[in-house]
Amino acid sequence: MSKVIVTGGCGYIGSHTCIALLSQGYEVVVFDDLSNASKESIDRIEKITEKRPELYRVDLKDKNAAIAAFETHKDAMAVIHFAAYKAVKESVEQPLQYYENNLFSLINTLIALQKFGINNFIFSSSATVYGIPKTCPVTEKSPVSTAFSPYGNTKKIAEEILEDCTHSNAEFSIISLRYFNPIGAHKSGKIGELPNGIPNNLMPYITQTAAGIREQLMVFGNDYPTKDGTAIRDYIHVMDLAEAHVVAVDRLIHQKQENNFEIYNLGTGIGYSVLEVIKAFETQNNLALNYKITDRRKGDVPVVFASTELASQTLGWSAKRDLNSMVKSAWNWEKNYRNENS
Ligand code: UD1
Repeated sequence: MSKVIVTGGCGYIGSHTCIALLSQGYEVVVFDDLSNASKESIDRIEKITEKRPELYRVDLKDKNAAIAAFETHKDAMAVIHFAAYKAVKESVEQPLQYYENNLFSLINTLIALQKFGINNFIFSSSATVYGIPKTCPVTEKSPVSTAFSPYGNTKKIAEEILEDCTHSNAEFSIISLRYFNPIGAHKSGKIGELPNGIPNNLMPYITQTAAGIREQLMVFGNDYPTKDGTAIRDYIHVMDLAEAHVVAVDRLIHQKQENNFEIYNLGTGIGYSVLEVIKAFETQNNLALNYKITDRRKGDVPVVFASTELASQTLGWSAKRDLNSMVKSAWNWEKNYRNENS
């Protein structure tokens, strides 16, 4: 059984990826500092898959601790690196914390991998590296632009660091996956997104408003040059995203790469406006959402959606789940979670 280390495996995308890996027969070890996620995720993963990943609590910013953790699992075939802070606004307020956490953790992880000869690495990147794209769909060849936020900059710098590492070490194989907008939850409703505090992102804000935790959803701007004036994004089901990681692991382990630094967009290729997402959520879940239009949010891009051609042609992966499935699963999880905790 091939062992895969998932850093940040207790978080939203990490935990869904653990489920996808376990259901494909991989052994999973989670490295997490639990700073922004709970170890309950491990119980939830076990409930769904009937397999329990080992949890190794480690702060990867601490170089010696990182090395000790990877030494314990130096027989791993691949590492998927999710561990990072991800709140855009917070990163503007606390840039140094973001650079320290996201970049030191990455660097220490890479040092440990080099030391123990673990050569397969998957990086959790973001469509944020494209900034405001000049044209859509965005391909992997679209220019990477100046980041809007320290968070976005950590993704951009991380990709540069990774590319440099593949130049210095021909054995090292890296796949960087640029996510568009992951939403939704596992179909069991036993795991899903659980942001700390007030959500920044659209879908958890919608589900928490529907659950009565937030009074009203603010729709940020209806004067964009789009069909209904609200901004357009490429929302992708988190389980589709999770499954893409399994395909990437398989590609690395079986040395199917054409290049030792590959980059793929992970999206559906379809752009939906904020109002379309709200409408789908209301219709599919048979409820009315309390929302109002307000001003644009600073730093928001009017339209961004992915070209999915490269992932589909090279990885043989494309997203299977539609917007209806995303909004239904997101609400199913929120309802279950609130019932569990009421
Ligand atoms: C944001 C980040 C991106 C990050 C991603 C996942 C920015 C500029 N981008 O993407 O770097 O990778 O989250 O964490 O912050 N919206 C509302 N009301 C809300 C929340 C959102 O109308 O309460 C709208 C936004 O204006 C946007 C859309 O919903 O048009 C999606 O927003 P969001 O979920 O925050 O994702 P992004 O901003 O696309």
